[in-house]
Amino acid sequence: MKNIVITGASRGIGYETAKYCSQLGHTVFAIARSADKLSKLDKESSGNIITIKADLTTAEGLTRVSNSLQHISRVDVLINNAGTLINKPFLETTNEEWQHHIDVNLLSVVKLIKTLYAKFEAGSHIVNIGSMGGFQGSVKFPGLSAYSTSKGALAILTEALSTEFAGAGIAVNCLCLGAVQTEMLNDAFPGYSAPVQPDEMAKFISEFGLNSHKYMNGKILPVALNNPE
Ligand SMILES: NC(=O)c1ccc[n+]([C@@H]2O[C@H](COP(=O)([O-])OP(=O)(O)OC[C@H]3O[C@@H](n4cnc5c(N)ncnc54)[C@H](OP(=O)(O)O)[C@@H]3O)[C@@H](O)[C@H]2O)c1
Repeated sequence: MKNIVITGASRGIGYETAKYCSQLGHTVFAIARSADKLSKLDKESSGNIITIKADLTTAEGLTRVSNSLQHISRVDVLINNAGTLINKPFLETTNEEWQHHIDVNLLSVVKLIKTLYAKFEAGSHIVNIGSMGGFQGSVKFPGLSAYSTSKGALAILTEALSTEFAGAGIAVNCLCLGAVQTEMLNDAFPGYSAPVQPDEMAKFISEFGLNSHKYMNGKILPVALNNPE
């Protein structure tokens, strides 16, 4: 059985991914800020989900993650799923909103990988959850400049780390998701109906994280039924 770390596990895709991986019998470290929602996740598991209340943009949050994983020697799969999105025209966005997107969608991933690096071994797999909005050449939605830019940077980080970590046998891939019916999507596009449910996407992400490092490294993959979705 594997040790799987999943960020953004309090709702949406991350919640369902943590639940599915635990149902497969793996040990899941589920990270988010909302203690109440993590507690619900914990109750739905059969004791193999360790919840960690942490804000990944803070040094305190990263220390809490590091302390919670102290007793394990290896992380098999890290799924960097936590994310944030606002839908606002570029000219109305503030510097703070841009900084927040960079902090959550990019720098928290950079810092978490550095924090956990000593736990990765040959065969470990880092999966970054990107977006079709951050996939080069995709049709872009107006209002998502900060979000799409931060996800585009996450995709390039994936390529960069895959070469740096290749010698150690650690694979890094990025899944650029299309629309999935979550609270994030509802908040950004009220009334829009996505073709995929979070539990369906969770299965794909889980299986990808557990198996695909044997066949690919440094890949930025569109996971969408059509473009721009
Ligand atoms: N839904 C879609 O259509 C779609 C499409 C493309 C890509 N994606 C990507 O897929 C991922 C999951 O999306 P989703 O729709 O499931 O989003 P969601 O429902 O908004 O969930 C986001 C998760 O990230 C966590 N999070 C946010 N800021 C955090 C922080 N500072 N520290 C720790 N955790 C934090 C949230 O938990 P707390 O608030 O409890 O911290 C929550 O669990 C995101 O990266 C998103 O960009 C989604």
